[in-house]
Amino acid sequence: MTLQNLIEPTSIAVIGASPNPEKIGHQILDNIVRGGFDGGVYPINPKEREILGLKCYPNIMEVPGQVDVAVIVVPAEIVPSVLEDCAKKRVSHVVVISSGFSEVGNKDLEKEIVEICRKNSMRLLGPNVIGYINTATKLNASFGPDFPFPGKIAFLTQSGALGVAITGWTWMERVGLSVLVSLGNMADVSFSDLIDYFSYHADTTCIAAYMEGIKGDGRKLVEAASQTSLNVPIVAFKAGRSERGRAATVSHTGSLAGESGVYDGAFKQSGIIRANSLHELFDKSLGLSLLPPMVGGNCLIITNAGGAGVMAADTAEKLDIEIYDPPERLKRTFKSIVPPYGSVNNPIDLTAMAIGGDFREAIKAALLDPSVNAVLVAYTVTRMVDPMDIAKAVHEAISSAGIKKPIVVNLIGGVECETAAKWLKGHGIPSYPTPERSIKVISALRGYGDYLASELEGFKPYKVDKRSVEEILNGTSRRVLREDEALEVFRAYGIDTPKTLLVKSQEEVISALKKGDLEYPLVMKISSPDIQHKTDVGGVKLGIKDEKEAVKAFEELMKNVKKAKPGAEIEGVVVQETAPRGVEVIIGGLKDPTFGPTVMFGLGGIMVEVLKDVVFRVAPVNREECLKMLQEVKGSELLKGVRGAKEVHMNCLAEGLSRLSQLIYDFPEIAEVDANPVIAHENDICAVDALIRLE
Ligand code: COA
Repeated sequence: MTLQNLIEPTSIAVIGASPNPEKIGHQILDNIVRGGFDGGVYPINPKEREILGLKCYPNIMEVPGQVDVAVIVVPAEIVPSVLEDCAKKRVSHVVVISSGFSEVGNKDLEKEIVEICRKNSMRLLGPNVIGYINTATKLNASFGPDFPFPGKIAFLTQSGALGVAITGWTWMERVGLSVLVSLGNMADVSFSDLIDYFSYHADTTCIAAYMEGIKGDGRKLVEAASQTSLNVPIVAFKAGRSERGRAATVSHTGSLAGESGVYDGAFKQSGIIRANSLHELFDKSLGLSLLPPMVGGNCLIITNAGGAGVMAADTAEKLDIEIYDPPERLKRTFKSIVPPYGSVNNPIDLTAMAIGGDFREAIKAALLDPSVNAVLVAYTVTRMVDPMDIAKAVHEAISSAGIKKPIVVNLIGGVECETAAKWLKGHGIPSYPTPERSIKVISALRGYGDYLASELEGFKPYKVDKRSVEEILNGTSRRVLREDEALEVFRAYGIDTPKTLLVKSQEEVISALKKGDLEYPLVMKISSPDIQHKTDVGGVKLGIKDEKEAVKAFEELMKNVKKAKPGAEIEGVVVQETAPRGVEVIIGGLKDPTFGPTVMFGLGGIMVEVLKDVVFRVAPVNREECLKMLQEVKGSELLKGVRGAKEVHMNCLAEGLSRLSQLIYDFPEIAEVDANPVIAHENDICAVDALIRLE
């Protein structure tokens, strides 16, 4: 059921409304009444006849007419019976303010209220929430102190206390909210439901989310956010970046799947802009709520101080925003404004002599020039010009240029700058006190613009040999597949591997080689369920050139392993052709508790082991998204070929990753899988070693 009736109700009841001003039931009713909500308001309390001048009803069934929302403020144990009454009254949405549910371990009571709501098609916000506020309809159904500063951001918060705390701050900072929703325990209404709803909401141009955890709702979130991001940008701050323990993992993918990395990937693929602090959440949300998305990646900085320009340029470089050299035509215009001792190269330094008019003309020229993608005005306070003059100059330039282009203002100075910044924000122009914060906002506008510009085709499954994989998985009693089996699974999904055989005796080695199935040089590796790191026990031989060496290698491998790990069960020796030379990478997949099947890419060797340079996505992912993953790792330059090496075949590598994402998605019984290393070369990829752990 849509959340329309919840966010924009025409009537609301407060169950547990109290005449006692110290009780939350009183404060919520008072907020609704004083806020100016013009729908029906019904206090419910069996002991009272009137509260705050409104007729009070003993129970909700007695209320005449329809009730869209019931806000419930009675002790937790009474909530189920109150919900039954709401069901009888056919209330569509309930908001349970009460604490005392799963957050304190009372899971059964929470389950009970969810069941009552589901059975009766009622949507439930909470429990354990402060309520919600809609600034446009003047509905304050919360026990927060007041309305937040009105604006275009829908703020969704998992922490109720933060919702209360933020209210006063929004006035101080002039960060405007359309709606504030406290999500609490998210027993029913979740981030994904709200993100879905705010995709089309007349008063909202950006969604800001404060998340602590999204339970098992990750996949739904990715789906909802991917769609909503096409209409409305979403910025999220996920608190609690602690890496979660994964005791059962055996793969590299498992050990590298920190919570943060998986969230990062999920956010990226669904267009969610990630914030790393509360400040960043609101900085970016303000920018995205007021400005159009950025088309292209360059920014022109207009400043009156070298320092501000340099700091902005430094941050821009880190965030991949191009501080480009403006075209001659634009330089000519700047020359007519900038004194000879200034600079017409980006950052454009108007010098400390600049007055409002200089800023206005330079900004206008930058906005009008089609080569400029975004403008940063970086002003440092001088005696020459008051910050308010700069604020007005920016406003005039935007009005007279009549162009919708991202423009962010950074005013550095004292209280006058703060006043001017407030004025700017009140006029729809984002302003921040430091160059770094301003550039981060420009980078968010770019990230959002890039998401809109990317081709968002869904995943089209590859033709694969699913039956062979089923046979292997059904035919084993092992928790971790044998290497030769795991490689066969990869082959069935179209990922190339070297020709591989498992031999159990010297005779089998000889007969396999006699058949001429394998080409020298060969690699031989011990196969044992008890040995994960074969090299450590002398379980790998490389560069075997003939039959004689192969027989000897078999013998030595057996001897080494029996000595290093006497009790280990040995299944035989894997004989494998040598893979072509290339760049070592790792591709993997894992079932994440929040997002379900995920896929990972990283560069092999120290890049993955020491630097943990890996990226994740929620599976399945198409080749285009996989290409982005290849570019996101810090060492991506290595794929392009360094020191005379040829560039690897990016499309083949991306396709291999995409095929692996299909594998982990197709088989829920696979807990983790990785191929490490995969050799990526100029023509293809080749998975040399593979590991698959089943649930
Ligand atoms: N229908 C309607 N009203 C009822 C009722 C019923 N079935 N049963 C009781 N009431 C009335 C009570 O009589 C009382 O009104 P009164 O002041 O006139 O006596 C009112 O509801 C509230 O009940 P009370 O027992 O006094 O509870 P309380 O106000 O002390 O606490 C909560 C209720 C919900 C606020 C409290 O249990 C709670 O959960 N507090 C934490 C809230 C919170 O922090 N939420 C999360 C924020 S992040």
